[in-house]
Amino acid sequence: SPTPLVDQFQRRISYVRLSVTDRCDLRCTYCMPERMTFLPRREVLSLEELHKLALGFIARGVTRIRLTGGEPLVRRDMIELVRALGRTIGAEGPQGGLRELTLTTNGTRLAEFADDLFAAGMRRINVSLDTLDRETFAKLSRRDSLPQVLEGLRAAREAGLKVKLNTVALKGVNEHEIADLVGWAHGQGFDATLIEVMPLGEVEEDRIDHYLPLTGVRETLEQRWTLTPSEHRTGGPARYFDVAETGGRLGLITPLTQNFCEGCNRIRVTTTGQLYACLGGNERVDLREALRSDDPQARLAEALDTAMRIKPERHHFAITEPGAAPALSRHMSMTGG
Ligand code: GTP
Ligand code: 5AD
Ligand code: SF4
Repeated sequence: SPTPLVDQFQRRISYVRLSVTDRCDLRCTYCMPERMTFLPRREVLSLEELHKLALGFIARGVTRIRLTGGEPLVRRDMIELVRALGRTIGAEGPQGGLRELTLTTNGTRLAEFADDLFAAGMRRINVSLDTLDRETFAKLSRRDSLPQVLEGLRAAREAGLKVKLNTVALKGVNEHEIADLVGWAHGQGFDATLIEVMPLGEVEEDRIDHYLPLTGVRETLEQRWTLTPSEHRTGGPARYFDVAETGGRLGLITPLTQNFCEGCNRIRVTTTGQLYACLGGNERVDLREALRSDDPQARLAEALDTAMRIKPERHHFAITEPGAAPALSRHMSMTGG
């Protein structure tokens, strides 16, 4: 039977982040420029190809697939993929199946899709929300879409989806709102996760101007609340804390101040079928070429073995010097994080 995916640092890879589109209906200033160049559609994997790839991963012991983007819900046929992958959840037998199918979304189209996602077998989604202030939202994402996102969140809850909010902590932007945002999330029954901004791709601003180390944010929050480390694990990079006063959970994702690569279980695939072994590196293999070859099965197996050999030990993100070029020229929206 096919061998599981294990890299040269003995890390078992069981989690694939699959980017279904690089396009997005927002333009968050820390993520992409206003005039972002998107990939020509002919470069993008078809639904059938994405499905085939996913089944290939599952056969190699991958148990979690997270659909990302860009904004996954702007891709028209995306719900078809969710349905197809949803059918593998809990499947027994030699091919195995997924334990979990998840989605990272900006929420603008959730109101339309929440019920379909749940019906297809999805139980948990992550929604990016950096502010509850409409003006701040419009400035930060360059689109006035907060009402739709709030509507989407309500629909998700009503559909029965567990929601985790993702908030990038930004100095001078949402810094003073973070505690309120977390408190609000917990009141809604959502988990909340804070993220340090990462130096990925050129944007109009210098990320150092807004970079907020979470070590300080945590201290500030601890003046208001009692945080105790939680046993909760999702298989992702967040470390969780229980907040006694709100009864909710707070996750911290600290690529800059506290590296978490030791426990990495992930790889990611772009819309064009490039497998990136690490979010913070350029090590990659071309799965599209393998998929479109004469012997897809063998070539895919080879490509995955190569990926395991080239996966680096860790990323080396830093935001220390004003005016410095980003660590990587690629934007987060290429690989979906
Ligand atoms: P779950 O734990 O499964 O809920 O997912 P997650 O929080 O890892 O996924 P999500 O898509 O919500 O991403 C949250 C943030 O974590 C994003 O900013 C991602 O870019 C970041 N992230 C996810 N995986 C990695 C990783 O391997 N390395 C780094 N540096 N950041 C990551
Ligand atoms: N650094 C950190 N987080 C980012 N995101 C997008 N770009 C960056 C970046 N450069 C976040 C989004 C979303 C998640 C998938 O990644 O806000 O919450
Ligand atoms: Fe779109 Fe997410 Fe990037 Fe914002 S952070 S522009 S919502 S991909």
